[in-house]
Amino acid sequence: MTRRRRIYEGKAKVLFEGPEPGTLVQYFKDDASAFNNQKKGVITGKGVLNNRISEYLMSRLSEIGVPTHFVRRLNMREQLVREVEIIPIELVVRNVAAGSLSQRFGIPEGTPLPRSIIEYYYKSDELHDPMVSEEHITAFGWAAPQDLDDMVALSLRVNDYLSGLFLGIGLKLVDFKLEFGRLWENEEMRIVLADEISPDNCRLWDVKTNEKLDKDRFRQDLGRVEEAYQEVARRLGILPEG
Ligand code: C5P
Repeated sequence: MTRRRRIYEGKAKVLFEGPEPGTLVQYFKDDASAFNNQKKGVITGKGVLNNRISEYLMSRLSEIGVPTHFVRRLNMREQLVREVEIIPIELVVRNVAAGSLSQRFGIPEGTPLPRSIIEYYYKSDELHDPMVSEEHITAFGWAAPQDLDDMVALSLRVNDYLSGLFLGIGLKLVDFKLEFGRLWENEEMRIVLADEISPDNCRLWDVKTNEKLDKDRFRQDLGRVEEAYQEVARRLGILPEG
């Protein structure tokens, strides 16, 4: 890690001041947490894999016109990103029942959903990221109605594109979480995809066996966590050397 001013430290990543104004360096740690930080651990090599996987997915999304904060990967654990004002909403897209949706509604894990479902969670460690509605988001001013419309439209595009991309390598995109930020350019504001896209925030199941190749292996103590992340990178054709 180089000597840079630390701007923010999260559970799995650190943000440092970037080399130019308006940029940040996003550093990927091996630390993992689950269940509102009640379960903590280290997945050796995870940071390197997520840096690479997120670079790949953000680059493909950028190519199809989805604006993102990603600029370029700097080294094994760091990437250069645009500095954005993070919107304090986690947007979850679900295609198949799993996780908290299965728990909340008693729907068996693996049940295909009649259509993709979007949920919103308010980003707050103290409140344990409560689920919120569009009404809460606009009434409390976390995002303007137009911001929310943009976030939903972008999320659906991301879902369509990534579902196809993963299916092509034998993986089912069960669900995933996205974060967005505001980026100002010449007095104009755009909503862009921020944070990361990796097996830390996607559920990915092998199409044939339903084997879980994501963070649920850590959450549910299934073992072979790093191997699962490696397998995702391998299928994407981007397994880092060594
Ligand atoms: O736990 P739940 O079923 O609500 O998670 C839905 C999706 O959002 C999963 O892919 C999970 O990895 C992701 N998620 C996340 N960060 C959170 C909560 C959920 O990346 N704080």
